[in-house]
Amino acid sequence: MSKLKIMVTGGAGYIGSHMTAMLIERGYEVVVFDSLVTGHKDAVSSNADLFVSDLANHQSVEDCFSRYRFDAVMHFASFIQVNESVRDPAKYYKNNVAAGLNLLEAMRKFNTKALVFSSSASIYGEPQAVPIGIDHPKNPLNPYGRSKLIFENMLHDYDIAYGLKSISLRYFNAAGADPSGLLGERHDPETHLIPLVLQVAAGRRKHIEIFGNDYPTKDGTCIRDYIHVVDLCEAHILALEALLQGYGSAAYNIGNGAGYSVLEVIDAAKRVTGKEIATVLSPRRAGDPGALVADASSIKKAFKWQPKYTDLAAIIRHAWAWETR
Ligand SMILES: NC(=O)c1ccc[n+]([C@@H]2O[C@H](COP(=O)([O-])OP(=O)(O)OC[C@H]3O[C@@H](n4cnc5c(N)ncnc54)[C@H](O)[C@@H]3O)[C@@H](O)[C@H]2O)c1
Repeated sequence: MSKLKIMVTGGAGYIGSHMTAMLIERGYEVVVFDSLVTGHKDAVSSNADLFVSDLANHQSVEDCFSRYRFDAVMHFASFIQVNESVRDPAKYYKNNVAAGLNLLEAMRKFNTKALVFSSSASIYGEPQAVPIGIDHPKNPLNPYGRSKLIFENMLHDYDIAYGLKSISLRYFNAAGADPSGLLGERHDPETHLIPLVLQVAAGRRKHIEIFGNDYPTKDGTCIRDYIHVVDLCEAHILALEALLQGYGSAAYNIGNGAGYSVLEVIDAAKRVTGKEIATVLSPRRAGDPGALVADASSIKKAFKWQPKYTDLAAIIRHAWAWETR
């Protein structure tokens, strides 16, 4: 039997590179479509084909579909920095919405009917209740979050009109690294807490900035839900298999369901690394909710997904192995 062929957009990035490796291990044929604008060629498994191009180039997206005839798509490619999206919303709508539309149009033209989309908890905005369930109101606070919500809405319309089935996975904070130590997070600039804290531990940064210690949380610092990248990728495999078996369109939250404060992350990182981690206290950042924790019960129920790495220390240990590779 020939292998199922999966297109992974953004497969040279942090999450997409882990996904590519897992898909290959599970017997899929993978083509990574990535412009390398923020991704890394050396993160792409040598067992995958790498098609270097930009989704904004609709002709090359079509060329890729025409060459490979995909069974399904996993769509990770996007810009991801909230602050930058506020400064330059056009960049985010062009890439995360307009370029994504080229992908949907190519899927329509080449009759590829299944897509797993990297959505985000940022579509919810300021939480009205924690943990956040999938029916929580959607009021994104910035253009990044709005670009993700617009794309989810586009997927809804493409299903009704053209029968394109999709599963949107709304990640909370992806973290950790492949336990092999061969893949990990490499954003530039890095904006995520765990790699930043570990860069301080490794002596590559002077200190970690804590934005606000007067939130109504256990220690006054912001609480976030950290989900191991491997658990995240497992959820994608389950979503992909469901779509390939004829499951309908849906959206799910992906998180651990446990919240950790900034100070708890720093303490756990000190214990894992055995290093001192200098901190500097700064004022709150606009649009930073006090607590974001996922209620992921719907995907647990639908696909029997269970995160394996529920312990923050395990997530940090893998990230540390990557950071000190
Ligand atoms: N990292 C997180 O915690 C997190 C949380 C919620 C949602 N997400 C979503 O998950 C996805 C992956 O995030 P990541 O952290 O791996 O980001 P990343 O920046 O590491 O990876 C994105 C990849 O997409 C590629 N890319 C971007 N625009 C492209 C385009 N127009 N054409 C082709 N390739 C393009 C980049 O080169 C890069 O390799 C994103 O959609 C992001 O919004 C991430």
